[in-house]
This record gives sequence, C-alpha cells and structure tokens, in this order.
Amino acid sequence: MPTTLEVKTPRLVTALPGPNARRVLEQDAKYMSPSYTRDYPLVAKRGHGAIVEDVDGNAFLDFAAGIAVCSTGHCHPKVVSAIQKQAAELIHMSGTDFYYESMPQLAERLGRTMPGAESKKVFFTNSGTEAIEGAIKLARYATKRDKLIAFYGCFHGRSMGALSLTASKSTHRKGFGALLSGIEHIPYPYAYRCAHGHTAETCGAEILEQLEGQIFKRLFDPEEVAGIIIEPIQGEGGYVPAPKFFLQELQRICRQHGIMFIVDEVQSGMGRTGKWWASDHAGIEPDILCCAKGIASGMPLGAIIARESVMRWKPGAHGTTFGGNPVCLAAALATMDLIESEYMENAHRMGDYLFGRLADWTKNFKIVGDVRGRGLMIGIEIVRDQRTKEKAADLRNAIVDLAFHKGLLVLGAGENTIRLSPPLLIDQEQADFAARTLEDCFREAEKKI
Ligand SMILES: Cc1ncc(COP(=O)(O)O)c(C=O)c1O
Repeated sequence: MPTTLEVKTPRLVTALPGPNARRVLEQDAKYMSPSYTRDYPLVAKRGHGAIVEDVDGNAFLDFAAGIAVCSTGHCHPKVVSAIQKQAAELIHMSGTDFYYESMPQLAERLGRTMPGAESKKVFFTNSGTEAIEGAIKLARYATKRDKLIAFYGCFHGRSMGALSLTASKSTHRKGFGALLSGIEHIPYPYAYRCAHGHTAETCGAEILEQLEGQIFKRLFDPEEVAGIIIEPIQGEGGYVPAPKFFLQELQRICRQHGIMFIVDEVQSGMGRTGKWWASDHAGIEPDILCCAKGIASGMPLGAIIARESVMRWKPGAHGTTFGGNPVCLAAALATMDLIESEYMENAHRMGDYLFGRLADWTKNFKIVGDVRGRGLMIGIEIVRDQRTKEKAADLRNAIVDLAFHKGLLVLGAGENTIRLSPPLLIDQEQADFAARTLEDCFREAEKKI
C-alpha cells in the first residue's frame, strides 16, 4: 500500500477536522491574529507533489498550491536539495551591502524571461507586496511624476502603498485611514460582466476611451502619470483575464505619454499560464514586471524586473535586509530549471486538457456562469441564475467547503469565483479527479437553490 504522500488522489481516514487538527484549531483561535481568512479547517503537516497530508494522516489533492505558490509541487526533491545545500553553506549575507554569485545569476535568468530587446535589471524582495511597493517607487523615481492608475478588482498587496492600488474588497482598506494620494482606479475589462456586451476578445474599448477621454482630460494630465499597473489576469479579483488588445492598447497609451507600463505577475506568472508570464500571451513588452509567489516554490522571494534604462536609481534609493536571501535564490534557480524543462509545458498541456474537460460546465450546471483563465489559472464563476448572473457567494463558499470534505483543496477568488491554481506538475488523473469532484459539488450545491 502506498504511503499517504505517495498517493496521487485523496485518501481521507478521519472525519474532518480530525482530532489532531481540532487541537491545533483551538490553539490557533487562542493565539493567532483574527485577520487571517481560513475557509476550511485544513491543518497541514507534510506535502509532496500535489498532495498535502494533514496532522491526522488525511491526504488531500491540492488545487490551491498555497495561493498559487508551490509551482513545482510541495517539497520537490530538487528544490529541497538546493535549499539544504545552500543552507549548509550560507544562509544570509544581505545583498544590499554585500555580493553573492546567485544574485546576478538569477537576475540574468529572470531578465531573459521578460520580453523586449533592452537588457533588464532586477531588485529582489521578500514578497509580492514588497515588489509592488518597490515598483511604485521605481516608477515615480524613473519618471519624476507621482500619479498612478490601477483597476477595480485588482489586488496588489496590503502595505500602505500597495493597498492604495488594491481595489478588490473594501475590507482590505476599512479601518486603515488615508492611503497614498494621486491614484485613480478605472474598470477592469471583465468580459463575463461587460457593461457593453463585448466578448472576451473585445471587452474594454470603452475603458480605454474613459482613460484617454476622461481621466487624462479631467483628472490627471498624462504627463503627471508615473505608471499604469495591471494584472494581466486578475487573481484575487476572480481570475479574470484582460483581452490581448486591451493590454496592447494600454502599452501604446503608456508609450505615447512616457508612462511606465507595470504588470503585476505575482499570481499569474512563472509558467502558470503555459508561458513565463501571462502578459506574454498578448505579446507586450512592459517597462516593469513584478513577480513573487511561484518563483521560489514556497520560499519567500519576489522580484522587480525592469528595463535597464528604467532601473537607474542611485545607491541607497532602495534596499532590503532579507530580500534575495541566498536560500531563497537557490530555491528559485532550482524552480526555474524545473519550470523551463517540464512544468511550463505541462501547465499548458494540462490547462488545455482541463479547459476541454470543463467546456460544457456552463451547459451542464445552471450555477456555473463562466469558466475562464489560461493554463493552470482557472476561474469558475458561480451564479444563482445564468440569465441574471446574480452572484452566488454562499453557493461558492459551500462548494469550496464540500470539495475540502471530498479531499480537494481549492480557494475562492472575488465574490463568487472558485479558483483552480494547482502545482504545475499535476497529471491527467489528478485533473480528472478535481473535475469529477467539482461536478459532484455543483450537483450538491444546486440542490440548495
Ligand atoms: C497579483 C498579486 N499582487 C500582489 C500580491 C501580494 O503578494 P504577497 O502576498 O506575496 O505580498 C498578491 C497576493 O495574492 C497578488 O495576487
């Protein structure tokens, strides 16, 4: 019999949560900040590939990957070995004040993944938020302008600068007072709910008109705008892809006015959509690209990658103690090897397979309003009525919870969307299991309406 971590699909051996999990939940309730947002009581102990084992020996199939982080699966032996080797040699030195070889090595590799003929420069951070925070500063520094434009529904992080861009849920902002000034938000091209009845290819033309005809004329002269920042596929906002033409037009507008075109690839990047970056599908060349999450398979690392002519800030203008820690860089180098050699291609192949498998869901289930995304970044929007598109947050939450009780880990995104963001190594058996399980959950949820 295979050990729990060798199974390919879930094996549940206790009621959920099990007795050990319950003990941890009690401790957690006593000591942990209540700001965390746990949807169901998974208490993780070990992980391997796409399988996570809890403290009671239950094995789950992980289609959440620690919020799209464990790109190479849990504890990939090559990543573990790179971490162990590096930890035995040098754990910390601080790249702000000293040099070590893996910094330019990883920077060079990351820079090569970003499109555009110009060479790139890289600043390493500890998180996605910190990459965004640094990108705000870099855009202001490079342009000597201070205004920024972002999109409704976007999530860029929770520090005061990044939070000023974030416009996903008012809970993120409520109670925290005044944020950064000089930021305007415009609608995101959300094809399923397009106010003008456009398709997934054409949604957003009116938003661009609003930007050029209203924002630039009535609020911010474009010569005062430092940057426009966009997630090529909105993550927390509900796994909503922006049409190609929209990203291309945004780039044109940015170029025309000397505005930094910043893409937030924190959730959508690192091979998840079948290319290094989701923005690659639109053939664009951003000025600044922010990444984190999947780049080091779970070790805390983010990066700001920018055109060389943009990242010209002076020594001392920006720094960090931990960012680009040698152990995280070793994990990232091993992660890039794996993504490049097999997992990016697998994300593409398994994404196509899953989309083929889910294609009929809007016909087969009256609560499935939309299935969208790219590669292994898939959003399933749950509605009460396909005609009115009434959002069914309660049903979405029920489905996420039901899936957990069937051994499948998924997370919500936006108000009423289920996100699938598995490790990039899943195989067909695991994709089929996830699809079958969600179908069972939809059938059960449909009985509730
Ligand atoms: C698109 C995007 N940007 C930024 C962030 C913030 O990253 P972190 O949580 O690593 O600070 C997230 C996190 O979910 C994200 O999805």
